[in-house]
Amino acid sequence: MALSFDFTNMMASALPHGAGITETQWTEAAAPFAKAHAAVHARTHDLGFLTLPENTALLESSLAVAAQVQGKFDDVLLLGIGGSALGPIALRTALCPPRWNELSTAQRSGNPRLHVLDNVDPASISATLARLDLSKTLVLVVSKSGGTVETMAQYLIVREALANAVGEAQAARHLVFVTDPEVGALRRIARAEGITTVDIPANVGGRFSVLSPVGILPAALMGIDVRALLAGAASMTADAQHVELTKNLPGAFAVLQWLSDRQHGRRVQVLMPYADPLRDLALWFVQLWAESLGKLKADGSSVGPTPLPALGATDQHSQVQLFMEGPKDKTVTFIAVKGREGDGKIPVRHADIPELGYLGGHTLGELIDIEQRATAGALAARGRFNATLSVDTVDAWHLGALMQLFALATAYAGELYGINAFDQPGVELGKQFAYAMLGRGGSERAREEWDALPKPESRWAM
Ligand code: PA5
Repeated sequence: MALSFDFTNMMASALPHGAGITETQWTEAAAPFAKAHAAVHARTHDLGFLTLPENTALLESSLAVAAQVQGKFDDVLLLGIGGSALGPIALRTALCPPRWNELSTAQRSGNPRLHVLDNVDPASISATLARLDLSKTLVLVVSKSGGTVETMAQYLIVREALANAVGEAQAARHLVFVTDPEVGALRRIARAEGITTVDIPANVGGRFSVLSPVGILPAALMGIDVRALLAGAASMTADAQHVELTKNLPGAFAVLQWLSDRQHGRRVQVLMPYADPLRDLALWFVQLWAESLGKLKADGSSVGPTPLPALGATDQHSQVQLFMEGPKDKTVTFIAVKGREGDGKIPVRHADIPELGYLGGHTLGELIDIEQRATAGALAARGRFNATLSVDTVDAWHLGALMQLFALATAYAGELYGINAFDQPGVELGKQFAYAMLGRGGSERAREEWDALPKPESRWAM
């Protein structure tokens, strides 16, 4: 089990044309990082994600529910959005065999399929409901606040469909709520109707919640080794106790991205795994980095790097052109994987055709690995900042370590930027306007502000 980080290509010593972080900038960053480190680790009581990996009682709460429903359902339907959906999706993509939902029950070792509704597009919801046998479906309603508009709308629709399918009396047996221990509409409904609930600790926010029951319960239901997931995260948290940047990987990642942005104008920060199973990890990271760090400061200035997901080698035929020759405003962090499932030799055939002949005898694993190294080298040769995180393999331990790495890095980066990484006030106004238009009580002031806005008018139509 190993994870390493090569950031040679972020540094001035490796990059041409005067690009790169200088040794002085790197050395001088130790002081602000020490401050950031102290601030984050002093908040262990209110930054609940720091202690999730060792929270055995919480783990047991998910395992107990998973054991209780084991073998009873073919499908799990998860309703949630943002941090309540992206983590479970990333876990399924990374840790279940590819095309999990298309496998037979035997191929899934009897574990259920997992469907995630993370939007309110009627087309997806109706198509999913039309496909599922609700009498064999467990519905997880995941919402920290217990009242998010999209999740509540999904819940109302799915609850009605459940009642129609299995009867009102049975419907509650098909529901599990994952929510705040005390507050919110879901908690009230659960109390009134005796619906099974699993707690998200009050001090764990949505995008930092993947290692709470938000991710652990669906993962356990699918048969993922959740103890290994938490052990990987615990190992990253233990390393992060060090204040020295050479020993604190999340710290090094945060500082390098922060310096790249603030001192070198590298505001777009790409996460590019070279592994299909990690495709959705990049989307999970995007939410974490964007919603946490894009903030208005007290002095009225705005900060926040823009995260961008990419996938190797696929994006070599898409975004890499932009990364190579577009504006010099990006960093690229690759995730390389040493050992891969299903690797085998490319057959030797058409040896006389130059475009194919050289491939025979290499493995696909070699090809994708070489392509990653070639892209990193090409970017560096053109003065483009990049770094590579390498993992031995994509398994629960390494994924837990990666997720905790990015969560810790986000917390450190919040301190470095001088903002609160744990709130999201910027999404509030749009929410209030939507409430006003939907007629939710208490949104009268938002209605007034909305009514005072210039009315949208189509300036062109076909
Ligand atoms: O990170 C966050 O806090 C948000 O993105 C939430 O996850 C998202 O808004 C969903 O919130 P909730 O889990 O309360 O339904």
